[in-house]
Amino acid sequence: RASALALASTALIAASVSASDEALRQKATEAGLQALPTELQQPANNPVTPEKIELGWMLFFDPRISASGIISCNTCHNLGTGGDDNLPTSVGHGWQKGPRNAPTVFNAVFNVAQFWDGRAEDLKEQAKGPVQAGVEMANKPEQVVTTLKSMPEYVERFGTAFSGEADPVTFDNMAKAIEAFEVTLVTPNAPFDKFMAGDDAAMTDEQKEGLSLFVDRGCASCHSGVNVGGQSYFPFGLIKRPGADILPPDDKGRFQVTHSASDEYVFRAAPLRNVAVTAPYFHSGQVWDLTQAVAVMGTAQLGTEINDEEAAKIVAFLQSLTGDVPTVQYPVLPAETRDTPRPQL
Ligand code: HEM
Ligand code: HEM
Repeated sequence: RASALALASTALIAASVSASDEALRQKATEAGLQALPTELQQPANNPVTPEKIELGWMLFFDPRISASGIISCNTCHNLGTGGDDNLPTSVGHGWQKGPRNAPTVFNAVFNVAQFWDGRAEDLKEQAKGPVQAGVEMANKPEQVVTTLKSMPEYVERFGTAFSGEADPVTFDNMAKAIEAFEVTLVTPNAPFDKFMAGDDAAMTDEQKEGLSLFVDRGCASCHSGVNVGGQSYFPFGLIKRPGADILPPDDKGRFQVTHSASDEYVFRAAPLRNVAVTAPYFHSGQVWDLTQAVAVMGTAQLGTEINDEEAAKIVAFLQSLTGDVPTVQYPVLPAETRDTPRPQL
């Protein structure tokens, strides 16, 4: 009889846990948090085909689209280390230090626009930036086209991926192919996604409490949608501006895009998927510890002190946003020819 009672109460507890899990899912959904879709996204004006994806995959790893011939997209967005470079701010051409932290390329397709200030409308526009940026790949579009045209395999692959075009090897098509590859760089099956799909056991109790706090404290009012952020812009320091170490005064964020005074120090609310594996944090990359980054958000964006216990729970929730990284092979790239421009170091 005693064991029957024990059994009955265990069943009761299980039922109540799952009811509260259902309520938590509801709460997360109402706050705008969403599971990661598993179907391939179709970017605007660039139908994704297997040929384009494969070409973009090669270009993403090809250092010869940089002037030096040694810097590829993967140098700063290393797919083996969270899709970023683990540096405060990136190091590019001639060992120059750039002004900002490299965001991950994983799930970037879900962001409303690209870069910390949203200055590129989409991934194909974005991809043309780093190739030309003096502190990144320091190359020129004509030089990139000359490089690509010097290798017959690339000419053939551009021809297939952009069939019907008279002159398929162009800088724009390079960017379109890279966008097509980036569409595949999504990380589904994070514990949070499994939980949202109905698997109560996918998240720990601490992570669930963290999710609840993430909504209650107001984090989700800026970090929501599929990418848990990346959807809208806010002043960094909405309530209290962080110190110059974290918010360097010379980077005015979205102001540089819109030139509107109200956009001074406005940045895109960072996408938080895989955030546990993409330290250091903020556009300045000056905070290495995720718990500290959460505390900074409390004072800067919400005007509240988030205590250590709450921060630990929120960090546990953020860890539940780490998904499965797609298996990406390292491509064998076409060999350079006598017509390939020489590296410029
Ligand atoms: C931003 C892709 C090369 C450093 C980005 C973003 C994407 C991307 C998608 C925006 C992500 C977001 O806003 O969440 C690429 C591709 C490259 C490339 C496809 C090759 C064509 C590089 C290189 C470096 C670099 C070589 C380092 C030298 C950065 C930095 C940002 C960034 C610092 C943020 C810049 C800002 O917000 O102003 N990249 N990247 N990237 N990438 Fe790259
Ligand atoms: C950045 C978490 C609340 C807007 C970040 C980052 C984290 C984070 C971890 C850094 C991500 C990275 O560098 O990859 C949180 C948490 C919050 C919260 C846990 C609640 C306690 C908010 C609110 C807003 C906001 C309420 C809007 C008012 C931003 C913006 C950035 C950011 C604009 C980018 C800052 C930059 O320029 O570096 N958030 N956030 N966050 N968050 Fe939040």
